[in-house]
Amino acid sequence: MAKKALVAGGAGFMGSHLCELLLEKSYTVHAIDNLVTGSRQNIQPLVEKGLNWLDVDITSDFYLNESYDEIYNLASPASPIDFEKMPIFILETAARGHKNLLKQAREMNARILYASTSEVYGDPLEHPQKEEYRGNVSTTGPRSCYDEGKRYGEALTMAFRREYAVDTRIVRIFNTYGPRMRPEDGRVIPNFFVQALKGKPLTLYGDGKQTRSFCYIRDEVEGIFALMQSKEFMPVNIGNPTEFSMIQIAEKINQLTGNRAGMIFKPLPTDDPIKRKPDISRAKEILGWAPKYDLQKGLELTHDYFKSIV
Ligand SMILES: NC(=O)c1ccc[n+]([C@@H]2O[C@H](COP(=O)([O-])OP(=O)(O)OC[C@H]3O[C@@H](n4cnc5c(N)ncnc54)[C@H](O)[C@@H]3O)[C@@H](O)[C@H]2O)c1
Repeated sequence: MAKKALVAGGAGFMGSHLCELLLEKSYTVHAIDNLVTGSRQNIQPLVEKGLNWLDVDITSDFYLNESYDEIYNLASPASPIDFEKMPIFILETAARGHKNLLKQAREMNARILYASTSEVYGDPLEHPQKEEYRGNVSTTGPRSCYDEGKRYGEALTMAFRREYAVDTRIVRIFNTYGPRMRPEDGRVIPNFFVQALKGKPLTLYGDGKQTRSFCYIRDEVEGIFALMQSKEFMPVNIGNPTEFSMIQIAEKINQLTGNRAGMIFKPLPTDDPIKRKPDISRAKEILGWAPKYDLQKGLELTHDYFKSIV
């Protein structure tokens, strides 16, 4: 019989790609989402392929009418512009929202995966970041609602595992990009594409030499799926370890789009990490997973998407 999955946050960038992957694998897929940062456009084509979507805020007193084999909790605003606009809602989503899902996973005996983040490492003092690294996080800074919310979400997941033997998984997602990101999302790759496609100079912060490693969305959701199928219940990093400086990324995007307006430099925002790179040895060893898309290929596919909407 086909497996049944619930994706919380299924109308978001990553959630919609995960729903798509699960449908390809012949799952029966239901998504819940309150569209706070997601969109109907992301899921409309999937609804036509059989996705069932319900408008639910996971922080509310909701009750799932059906049972699932697998619950993926990807519901959370995730972009720096959201941290400014709705910090309390972000904390509530990680705390009350995730608890609601854990409780229902326990009742229906479902396996549940929590989408955590590389932000639990904060501005890391170890490079690259292994899962054992405990992080360097500000509890009071502008990103703390997200970083500390996700740390609490991980702790809550482990508490449900220890106290109630709920079958849990935790993925630490590193920077991911691709089609269906919001153009006004505030994250670097959508920012660069929108500026480049409008013929404007790309905005870099600091000296532009800070690095990030970017994972293409298809690789990321395949890693998340592989983790759900595995027996590993401790956190696993899923990301692409190849590092690029912001300047290198800006150059590639200007080249792809034919933008001749160059770049401008602004001061670095508070608490913005200087380096971020996953150690993915655990994912390779346990899941047999490694990213397949290089930056050039991923940016070409992302360019096609932004060209169609900007
Ligand atoms: N994109 C990345 O690079 C990245 C990196 C690390 C972790 N993550 C995590 O992956 C998940 C998905 O991120 P994304 O980039 O797709 O963001 P996104 O904003 O596109 O998707 C999040 C989705 O969750 C929904 N949502 C938020 N709060 C909700 C609530 N209380 N109830 C119901 N739905 C709610 C939003 O409407 C949206 O559709 C998030 O948990 C995020 O923290 C993403």
